[in-house]
Amino acid sequence: MSAKIIDGKTVAENLLQVLKQEIDVRLKKGIRNPSLAVILLGSDPASSIYVRNKRLACEKIGVKSIAYDLPNTTSEKELITLIETLNNDANIDGILVQSPLPDHINNDVIFETISPRKDVDGFHPKNIGLLAVRQPQLRSCTPFGVMKLIEATQLPTRGLDAIVVGASNHVGRPMGLELLLAGCTVTICHRHTQHLQQKIELADIVVAAVGIPGLIKGSWIKPGAIVIDIGISRLDDGKIVGDVEFDIAKTRAGFITPVPGGVGPMTVATLMGNTLLAQKLSAL
Ligand code: GUN
Repeated sequence: MSAKIIDGKTVAENLLQVLKQEIDVRLKKGIRNPSLAVILLGSDPASSIYVRNKRLACEKIGVKSIAYDLPNTTSEKELITLIETLNNDANIDGILVQSPLPDHINNDVIFETISPRKDVDGFHPKNIGLLAVRQPQLRSCTPFGVMKLIEATQLPTRGLDAIVVGASNHVGRPMGLELLLAGCTVTICHRHTQHLQQKIELADIVVAAVGIPGLIKGSWIKPGAIVIDIGISRLDDGKIVGDVEFDIAKTRAGFITPVPGGVGPMTVATLMGNTLLAQKLSAL
């Protein structure tokens, strides 16, 4: 058996085209382009690439992106002042602060300063809470993008056993909530989890979000399972890999995402969807 590859690039491209069409229709009705403030501190190479991709997606579909490229030495207070100014600016629909932030800045304080209605990353505790109580609004981009990839398999999710490996605030936890909302029975695993292999062997959906290459052995995958790999690491030889042993997993899974070209493009596409949604929320 060889798994079907879930092509994140194509699913993301289709979503971007749908969003572009909707923005074009709104423009014809006299509604301005959605706008996204993108704040980047310092010049970390990975963050710079992510931000470039987000800005390119904005350009492609007609979202106006406003760049705030600030020095690494920017103080927490300065950053908070900027976010508060953007919160109060009616011409700004979404605010994104690229993480990781320098050590002298408290991430939680920054993400909680962003108005929940402009929180296009879906990181604010209010937005995570709304997802938890089944009233999602702005949803964390990567988990929401993963749900769209699972949707693309056209398999019903209700009643499936899903496992999320990784329990971070921004990915693993909201991922568990998304799967729960989709009717799955969810297990979230983390560094203290025992018997990871046995748990994965029982799962119909495996979502890996750890960042440890090959942590999940291909031989653990239940035949026919949906395998979604959010992990992304660069090996010493330069190869980009995920958390799942792809070559073996693909001989067992029903569907599997590649790394790269799986989840990554979906994070950017759902960010664009959230920016349009934030614009709509601002009009309510
Ligand atoms: N750093 C890595 N991924 C992300 C993301 O999706 N949003 C933000 N704000 N920072 C990130």
